[in-house]
Amino acid sequence: MKKTQSYIKKNKKKFLNELLDLLKIPSISADPKYKKAMFKTADFVAKSLKDAGAENVEICPTPGYPVVYGEKLIDPKKPTVLVYGHYDVQPPDPLDLWTSGPFEPVIKKTKIHPKGAIFARGSADDKGQFYMHVKAFEAMMATDSLPCNVKFMIEGEEEVGSDNLGPFCQANKKKLACDMVMISDTSIIANDCPSISVGLRGLSYVEVEVTAANRDLHSGVYGGAVANPINILSKMIASMHDENNHITIPGFYDAVEKISRKERKAMNAAPFDLTEYKKDLEIDKEHGEKGFTTLERTSIRPTLDVNGIWGGYIGEGAKTVLPSKAYAKISMRLVPNQKHEKITKLFTKHFKKIAPKSVKVKVTPHHGGEAAVTPTDSVEYLAAAKAMEDTFGKTPIPQRGGGSIPIVALFEKVLGVKSVLMGFGLDSDGLHSPNEHYGLFNYYKGIETIPYFFKHYAEMKK
Ligand code: BES
Ligand code: MN
Ligand code: MN
Repeated sequence: MKKTQSYIKKNKKKFLNELLDLLKIPSISADPKYKKAMFKTADFVAKSLKDAGAENVEICPTPGYPVVYGEKLIDPKKPTVLVYGHYDVQPPDPLDLWTSGPFEPVIKKTKIHPKGAIFARGSADDKGQFYMHVKAFEAMMATDSLPCNVKFMIEGEEEVGSDNLGPFCQANKKKLACDMVMISDTSIIANDCPSISVGLRGLSYVEVEVTAANRDLHSGVYGGAVANPINILSKMIASMHDENNHITIPGFYDAVEKISRKERKAMNAAPFDLTEYKKDLEIDKEHGEKGFTTLERTSIRPTLDVNGIWGGYIGEGAKTVLPSKAYAKISMRLVPNQKHEKITKLFTKHFKKIAPKSVKVKVTPHHGGEAAVTPTDSVEYLAAAKAMEDTFGKTPIPQRGGGSIPIVALFEKVLGVKSVLMGFGLDSDGLHSPNEHYGLFNYYKGIETIPYFFKHYAEMKK
């Protein structure tokens, strides 16, 4: 281990510069304009795996963007870790809120990151995080200390729902066979308070369209006599939460798992400062479902949120128009036992039911995924916890996260294995927001911790 850690120390600069190069490629999976950049990124990842010492490196085509695969199998009797990550990133919009180019990575100091953080889209989610595994692997290979088998699977469609990954896993079961999946794509509580994610929420995502008249109309000539689809859509959306902020879709909570008092107490014992939270977001009051704390609202409770709403005139000045159509994108975060397809059906039925006769509505489902919980008593979890203890000097706190990584439930279903979510980012790193960044402390801490994880896992799994 000493050799591996000193290799890491010696190569810090190189590790950083390589990540900066990776961050310069705009791998935006949602926007077809970036198709070339997507393939270029896949090439970059494949080359980096090869350079680090992986074998059988492949850029595996899918009906969408390719999956990059690589492996190092040292002994069939030893356990196999499948490292999963994603090389695609979210669109950087709104661009004018970035203080530097989203694909021109620069290092800046912040209050939380006094040693500096890399500002770029994808720095924390997930290029900076999966690349820690490539570098930790390089360090173990270079010092001849890889203690078990490792496979890498870095995909390019996580941010758009990983639709092709389920079939890919199904078709490549043998190639992907492993004892566990290791993922660094989540957050820790703070740089001096390590944690391991033991839960992810599921997701149902829909787009709705409300149509009134067959064309835009003069709002003076027709206004008051013909439905305004924006007014109607707003009312429909508003009605989907009651005065306690419960979601009103019939059956929505039916499958929601009841969490015991004891478990809730443990959850709420995690370090969290509501005053700081509000201060950071510049809000006077938090908002959410009655009867639950902020930590519970973002982990064990489902949500319904409008992600975008549009229609009518949004240009300069004023235009008196009665629009024909209104649209919204709506996401529902789900918790264990809620099935995303069922929830999408319930939403669709309800949305159609509450629409007045003066409009027509259309609901188009987008991607979805199931929630996941991972055990805290498995060898896999304990090895990760021990590794974090080695490098942070503190036992990590198990915590359920609010985000979604739909492939985690699929790994369980298709490959029959559990994942460990050992992320190193911070929730405040601006994932999916302007000025996304990843702390240098976090990047290096991850690279240092991963070899310890491999060591403990190989020993404990024996
Ligand atoms: N890495 C995130 C998920 C995440 C972030 C989990 C922070 C826990 C803490 C992932 O890339 C992501 O953004 N997932 C999407 C879902 C996907 C289907 C688009 C999400 O959660 O919105
Ligand atoms: Mn991610
Ligand atoms: Mn993401």
